[in-house]
Amino acid sequence: MRTIIEPFRIKMTEPLKLTTAPERKKALAKANNNVFLLDAEDCCIDLLTDSGTGAMSAQQWAALMLGDESYAGSKSWKKFEAVVKNITGIKYIFPTHQGRAAESILATCIIKKGDVIPNNNHFDTTRANLEFAGAYAIDLVCDAGLDPADESPFKGNIDIAKLEKCIAEYGPGRIPFGMITVTNNTGGGQPVSMANIRAVKEVLAKNNIPFMIDACRFAENAYFIKQREDGYQDKTLLEIAQEIFSYADGATMSCKKDGLANIGGFLICNNEKWSHQFRNMLILREGFPTYGGLAGRDLEVIAVGLMEALEYDYQVYRHATIKYIGDKLTKKGIPIVRPVGGHAIFLDAKAFLPHIEPLQYPGIGLVNALYLEGGVRSVELGSVMFARRDENGVETASPMELVRLAFPRRVYTQSHFDYLIEVIEKVWQDRDKIPGYKITYQPEFLRHFTCQMEKIQ
Ligand code: F0G
Repeated sequence: MRTIIEPFRIKMTEPLKLTTAPERKKALAKANNNVFLLDAEDCCIDLLTDSGTGAMSAQQWAALMLGDESYAGSKSWKKFEAVVKNITGIKYIFPTHQGRAAESILATCIIKKGDVIPNNNHFDTTRANLEFAGAYAIDLVCDAGLDPADESPFKGNIDIAKLEKCIAEYGPGRIPFGMITVTNNTGGGQPVSMANIRAVKEVLAKNNIPFMIDACRFAENAYFIKQREDGYQDKTLLEIAQEIFSYADGATMSCKKDGLANIGGFLICNNEKWSHQFRNMLILREGFPTYGGLAGRDLEVIAVGLMEALEYDYQVYRHATIKYIGDKLTKKGIPIVRPVGGHAIFLDAKAFLPHIEPLQYPGIGLVNALYLEGGVRSVELGSVMFARRDENGVETASPMELVRLAFPRRVYTQSHFDYLIEVIEKVWQDRDKIPGYKITYQPEFLRHFTCQMEKIQ
């Protein structure tokens, strides 16, 4: 088997600033030990997120020039709508400026105080939007999804028995919709099988509960289904995506992921009553329904990007790069979530730094060590992001302490990844010296973005 190569060549470059260790130490101190507060140019390999950080193709840059900036009914909107309809088959389509705007409109229009929303794992913005509207956001991922070492192929699946129990416990009247996130970002970028999507739909439909998909990484999930699920080997990624959406009553989407765009999203549904509510809220919050918070040129870029994400060779290369890094780290004994996910490597900070208690945030210890060692910016998905806090501020740790290295699409090459592996290995060798952290300032919601931290000496 030959080396799997990037199925593109590079037409434009962007310089990377190489920093020294003392410069990084100073920068992290200035950022109060929170890498979200670093200047991007001080991050040599920036793996904070795969969201909106990808490189556009020549076709996307060309499409951008065709942007029709008419306020209403633009040509760009027609193209966007046609592509979203082709992929999803869903009737009512509302462009939003990004995924969380879709979540916020959905939550504001549909949720009543005390409602319950099940999901495999809610992503942080989804949880925050649902909870802000008064709902309980409940995670029902299967047990395999909670064990970083479990090699099951579809660790993003919802546990169907847990879903049935949840519906029996709260009653369908309190569940205005159920969700599933493909791939399951919070749980390691793990995929959901078609069989599971079908089973979730069946259970929800039996109880007259609408089914919403958080579709951010639908194309990566479609590739996993093609690779791992019987009966899908001969189907195209587009056909698989169409089947995924055929079970949904609606979806929220961030086009900053599998839209291969730097901004954008959408909210879609089949329910006419919902569509009226969404349209009114969209006009209030985002913009006229044919642009919804985006420029015409963004709609053009997304229309091209959504289809490029479904190109088989692109997905082969993307998954190969992540597997390359994952296999090298595993060979060195470095604990990661196995098997590797679709958009990121997740280091298991609990196993990496067993000497740090969960509520002294081992994930932050690891994130900061990676930055200090090599200018690599990653993100904690552990107790800083997900700990539950009671009314007295007492925290219950997150079930997992992960550090995500998310890969921007079509941005870094193999030498960047080799450098990354070297940095992780050095941090692994020196792991006993890594400290835990305490939080010295935090806001009420989504604290990880702006909280300030101090080393525990
Ligand atoms: N749902 C999932 C599963 C996500 O991963 C994200 C964003 C959103 C919804 C919200 O979309 O950013 O366009 O508002 N995830 C990014 C990340 C931020 O880094 O994983 P958005």
